[in-house]
Amino acid sequence: MLIKASAPSSVLLVCLGNICRSPTAEEIFRQQTAIAGLDMKVDSAGTGDWHIGHSPDIRAQRHAKSNGYNISKLIARQVTNDDFTNFDLILAMDAQNLTDLQLIKDSIEASNGALKKPLARLALFSEEDPTYSGDDVPDPYQGNADDFEEVIRRIESSSQAWIESWKTS
Ligand code: 4NP
Repeated sequence: MLIKASAPSSVLLVCLGNICRSPTAEEIFRQQTAIAGLDMKVDSAGTGDWHIGHSPDIRAQRHAKSNGYNISKLIARQVTNDDFTNFDLILAMDAQNLTDLQLIKDSIEASNGALKKPLARLALFSEEDPTYSGDDVPDPYQGNADDFEEVIRRIESSSQAWIESWKTS
């Protein structure tokens, strides 16, 4: 497969807690990019600090596993300023995550007048997905089994859409 020169070489997936949506997205994105032959660094993080060091939510682990994704070894961490230089693209699961990431990016730019390296591009995870474009990946934390399944469907769809966007036509 031919990939556009503008395709990122590293992607960070971000949600609030880094225990439900973004670890699921990390594994799905990693599998789909590998299948597509893309050599891409993939990681995930949360904007919040409540779950640092925790394994993914047990419900997220179960739903991931039944869909063919093992997220049991992932460990939650919080987004850091270094992420904005270590990753080319940071994808937010929902609009609030995107707002929070933009605030961090703005503060890094404000405190470092002359940046050596451009900061990561920020986007909503659904941005390239014609099925879900502009939608949040809804937070399933207070939800039920259907909500966790819906998270997986949306993440599979939007991950594939990003990969399609990086293929040369
Ligand atoms: P996530 O879900 O952002 O998809 O990991 C959540 C996990 C924990 C909390 C909220 C959302 N929480 O409030 O602790």
